[in-house]
Amino acid sequence: MSGRPTWAEIDLDALTRNYRTLASLLRGRSRLIPVVKADAYGHGAASVSMALARAGTTAFAVALVEEGIALRDAGISGEILVLEGAFPGQEDEVVSRAFTATVFSPDMVRRLEKAASSRSVQVSAHIKIDTGMNRLGASWHSLASLLEALRDAAHIRVTGTFSHLACAEEEDREFTLEQIRRFRQGLGRIREAGIDPGEIHLANSAGLLYWEELRGWTARPGIALYGYPPSPERCPAELRPVLTFKSRVARIQTISAGESVGYNRRFIARRKTDVATVPVGYADGYRRSLGGKAKVIVKGRCAEVLGTISMDMITVDVTEVPDARVGDEVILLGSSANCRVDAASWADALGTIPYEILCGISPRVPRIPIHLPSADCG
Ligand SMILES: Cc1ncc(COP(=O)(O)O)c(C=O)c1O
Repeated sequence: MSGRPTWAEIDLDALTRNYRTLASLLRGRSRLIPVVKADAYGHGAASVSMALARAGTTAFAVALVEEGIALRDAGISGEILVLEGAFPGQEDEVVSRAFTATVFSPDMVRRLEKAASSRSVQVSAHIKIDTGMNRLGASWHSLASLLEALRDAAHIRVTGTFSHLACAEEEDREFTLEQIRRFRQGLGRIREAGIDPGEIHLANSAGLLYWEELRGWTARPGIALYGYPPSPERCPAELRPVLTFKSRVARIQTISAGESVGYNRRFIARRKTDVATVPVGYADGYRRSLGGKAKVIVKGRCAEVLGTISMDMITVDVTEVPDARVGDEVILLGSSANCRVDAASWADALGTIPYEILCGISPRVPRIPIHLPSADCG
């Protein structure tokens, strides 16, 4: 690789295994719709989707029409469900790119119907029911006007119905049970209106992993596919992180006790210290707030990040790694035999969740797919 030696390896073999592990939880003829929004949670939507298609995936979920367009342009021909639906003015793209729309208001239905009828084509749509997230969807108790609009829309075919769970990873099962009850009521209302709800899906990763009763329906896992189960301590499946964030030592120098390192002199050496400079910083998603908390892996050993994280560089104490040399690989997120520094440990240190860490690795970090599955996969 030429250029700055900082990159993220995307292990497509781990991804494929995670996909198969999750698919094996399903019952009957249900399927997975992998969630590849936000550039596949920072993993690179095109190569991730290609690998999943090779493993047998027939449908993908994105948040935005724009993300769907990028997938089509990358050659993904499978079904693409746009979870947030079309914003006004995007209906024509939905129709022309043969996306599966999400609909949750009569207005949306009318705009989509207009775009489809002007091209004299049928467009598929999934109904989104709000069962308590109170974020997006038609409320489970007041679906009448949406259903009426759908009955009048000759060019829209309802092929699915879904909702989203707020807290399926939590030990307290009460609210998820309530969401399931509300979802079933919503499905009942759709059927009463003479509309077939089509493919039914409710489970995200947590729903699929921790709610056996949802495994007979389609599931939309995101984070688990990338190897990070919500509530890892009680995960019923073995999942492997797909992304490893790496760089290389650019410089090593020895400083004396009393010398400081980096902005605002946040680190003062108490002993003679070997300091390695690594070309990655907060502009790459190596979060500044990790200063004083982060570790990396050099030659299989854990090494502490020193002082303030800069925009483009970090500094690492390699005193205990005496054979460290310029050019050595540094694992920023990943593991060795004795040391693990992953998105979950960053998330713990930063008071956030692995999703935000993974999505936060910036576009200037090249994603390098590795272990491309062979053609016989799936
Ligand atoms: C509507 C919807 N379905 C599924 C998912 C996937 O969730 P997870 O990554 O927790 O599996 C998301 C993610 O935010 C979502 O918004």
